[in-house]
Amino acid sequence: MTELRIERLLPTDFLASSLRQDARAGLTASPKSLPPKWFYDAQGSALFEKITELREYYPTRAERAILRSASAEIAAASRAHTLVELGSGSSDKTRLLLDALREAGSLRRYVPVDVSESALRAAAHRLLAGYPGLSVHAVVSDFGRNLGLPADDAHQPRMIAFLGSTIGNMLPAQRAEFLARIRASLSVGDTLLLGTDLVKDPATLVAAYDDPAGITGAFNKNVLAVLNTQLGADFDLDTFDHVALWDPENEWIEMRLRSSLAQSVRLPAIELTVEFADGEQMRTEVSAKFRRDGIESELAAAGFAMRSWWTDPERLFGLSLSVPA
Ligand SMILES: C[S@@+](CC[C@H](N)C(=O)[O-])C[C@H]1O[C@@H](n2cnc3c(N)ncnc32)[C@H](O)[C@@H]1O
Repeated sequence: MTELRIERLLPTDFLASSLRQDARAGLTASPKSLPPKWFYDAQGSALFEKITELREYYPTRAERAILRSASAEIAAASRAHTLVELGSGSSDKTRLLLDALREAGSLRRYVPVDVSESALRAAAHRLLAGYPGLSVHAVVSDFGRNLGLPADDAHQPRMIAFLGSTIGNMLPAQRAEFLARIRASLSVGDTLLLGTDLVKDPATLVAAYDDPAGITGAFNKNVLAVLNTQLGADFDLDTFDHVALWDPENEWIEMRLRSSLAQSVRLPAIELTVEFADGEQMRTEVSAKFRRDGIESELAAAGFAMRSWWTDPERLFGLSLSVPA
């Protein structure tokens, strides 16, 4: 029988303490920055879904094309009874994996993990209808603190999927720590399926993060709306401009917000007033781009051996399947 369980692993003071700490640390740093996980309230998650449909935003289409052609191979190699997906969002592309695992006869349980409770609930309810007999155990968690893997040992082997190149939103040291933490929680027989956007010409990359319709700009500014709602801040979103630029040295896209005037912003909940100079830029996201050798080395350093690597026909995106080394 189909079963849905929603578990909340966020500490009860998540917004009250984590957001406050991140806002204080990021807004008093020089240069200022905010971590990308705060984009994703209900409005931010909905805007991200719109981004995935933009003509310029190729990563979702490219990763879906890979999954369409490789899912049967992935299912056969992993023989996963449990699919855990970190940062699952809408779980839309995941259907290709669920279908292949079901076809292979191994699938028992799907564990989507996301910080956005609204996205998680909507996705879990949509999935239930299509997968009779599947147990969906949705976990609301900040995977930076708690991966949200089921504590029981039932339904092994497990495949951990981390799609959408969300790993690119971490800085290199965070990535190393994160991959090592995943590795430490896996057993022999488990697998890691990792989606990584690839280095390509800067014009294509920048266009994917700076669409003319302004959807990515609205998504970027949503972090200010979250601070307004949650911390009573008085950011005027119209006085910040969306910036997307390619950093060739670090091989990442950086999203920033640029203040169009000198201004003071108040955040009463943390008793902070922040000064922005005219033209000052604040980093809101990095989106690292990868090369096969580089990600294979990062995986090896964390204790994984890459077993398979797939790309789409245009070589825009890479998907790898790794096992504990
Ligand atoms: C770039 S989107 C990718 C969504 C989906 N996996 C895809 O491929 O389209 C990142 C997802 O990760 C979630 N996320 C971001 N930071 C997170 C965190 N620290 N803990 C849990 N989920 C997080 C967001 O809510 C969002 O659903």
